[in-house]
Amino acid sequence: MTWNPDQYHRFQAARSAPAHDLLAMIPQRPYRSVVDLGCGTGEQTLELARRFPDAQVLGLDSSAEMLARTPAGQAANLRFEQGDIAQLTGTYDLIYSNAALQWLPDHPALLAQLWRQLAPGGVLAVQVPANHDHASHRLLTATADEFTDELGGFTRFGTAQGASPVLTPAGYAESLDALGATDITAISKVYPVVLRGADGLIEWTRGTALVPYLSRLGDADAARFLESYRARLHAEFPGDRVYYAFTRVLFTAIRPS
Ligand SMILES: C[S@@+](CC[C@H](N)C(=O)[O-])C[C@H]1O[C@@H](n2cnc3c(N)ncnc32)[C@H](O)[C@@H]1O
Repeated sequence: MTWNPDQYHRFQAARSAPAHDLLAMIPQRPYRSVVDLGCGTGEQTLELARRFPDAQVLGLDSSAEMLARTPAGQAANLRFEQGDIAQLTGTYDLIYSNAALQWLPDHPALLAQLWRQLAPGGVLAVQVPANHDHASHRLLTATADEFTDELGGFTRFGTAQGASPVLTPAGYAESLDALGATDITAISKVYPVVLRGADGLIEWTRGTALVPYLSRLGDADAARFLESYRARLHAEFPGDRVYYAFTRVLFTAIRPS
């Protein structure tokens, strides 16, 4: 899957607001080891390294394109590695992940995996987008259905409907409680983005949700896919302004000592 850091950063201000909220939710504790899962271009990893100078901070991401833009070397306690979150090794005092875990399936199982990799007394802090019911996603799935052959049957989450693995705040809280977590905070918040009509929505989704589809298609099929998606979006959003009530779920929890 090929990520484009420039496209992702076109909406940097809108995308960084939830990260600031998540960073603010992290309790101040004597962390020694911190991992940022799906760190992207690593701005928040650097912020974690500066905020916790006594901790070794690792940014993990599967995308070479994103990692190529990370601020490696800007803090002595900071390093980046290419790797898959599903194959994470080691234990950490703080496991942090902003806008990345939605790319992995089966969140109750994923939380259980991460929980095993949290040191006693450790903190889990996660933010995931929860706007999968929005028309931009529904129409993307409808477009993918039209390109089943070209996509080799791929749908975003490996199901016919392309269903999201993201849980409700209550779902995360219950899963965390079942794992024995304390101090659970789980909230949902709307981070609105005002976009220039359907084309603005396409620019937004090109940075994220479109990536797994376009990166599986050759240039000609990708152009046809985009046109089909564009036509659907224009029919749904005929005006020149879209108020996109982008909803996200944020949660933190502590593993008892
Ligand atoms: C939407 S970006 C978020 C980047 C960064 N956390 C931020 O908030 O700006 C999602 C990132 O997750 C990474 N990612 C997705 N699935 C992954 C996986 N299974 N293992 C590691 N990284 C993954 C992508 O490469 C991408 O950089």
